[in-house]
Amino acid sequence: MFRTAISNVAVREFKSGIISDQELSLILEAARLTQSAKNIQPWYFIVVKDRKTLDSLAELMTGDIDEDLTKRSPMIVAVIGDPKSQFWLFDLGRVVQSMTLVAWEMGIGSCVISGPEPPDRENYRTKAGKILGVPENLRMQELIVFAYPRNKLPYRPRKIRKEMSDILFQEKFGNPADKSLLAPVRK
Ligand SMILES: Cc1cc2nc3c(=O)[nH]c(=O)nc-3n(C[C@H](O)[C@H](O)[C@H](O)COP(=O)(O)O)c2cc1C
Repeated sequence: MFRTAISNVAVREFKSGIISDQELSLILEAARLTQSAKNIQPWYFIVVKDRKTLDSLAELMTGDIDEDLTKRSPMIVAVIGDPKSQFWLFDLGRVVQSMTLVAWEMGIGSCVISGPEPPDRENYRTKAGKILGVPENLRMQELIVFAYPRNKLPYRPRKIRKEMSDILFQEKFGNPADKSLLAPVRK
């Protein structure tokens, strides 16, 4: 699991085929069983394979870099949130991470597609929700493409991350953390 988590990167170049339903069902089962605050499970998922629907979603992103990514996506899972839960965004983050890592472990790449930059994003989400028939009390939050990576994994180094010493502190914010925590050693 450590290896899966630390090697996972966004994949944007795919083979043309759709992942198998068996693989997809494992990804979705990982989502279904994810922890959530008060076990509210404030999420729904829509599997979108229909090319016309994918193209309609891409059209909502005209001019944005995600337009091309959506057009090239063989299949997308739309992640729908229920804002009545206080922790819905936190929980959606967890559920997407579950799906992404399970997919990665099976050699399947994924990328979150957030659509146009603010201030247009919320309007895009509303329109995307309408295309997907999402009830008005729920929110179409993210599209996730899952597909076989075009190149062998890991196909390139991950983007640079902040140093541990920049994000980890000891006892109080700003206090340097113990050196033993800065350079993890795997036994
Ligand atoms: C919440 C979230 C939203 C993201 N939205 C997009 C997006 O709209 N388009 C995109 O190409 N990548 C998107 N990504 C992928 C990130 O840009 C990418 O994971 C990050 O830059 C680190 O790069 P790496 O995965 O190659 O290491 C998103 C990732 C997350 C977690």
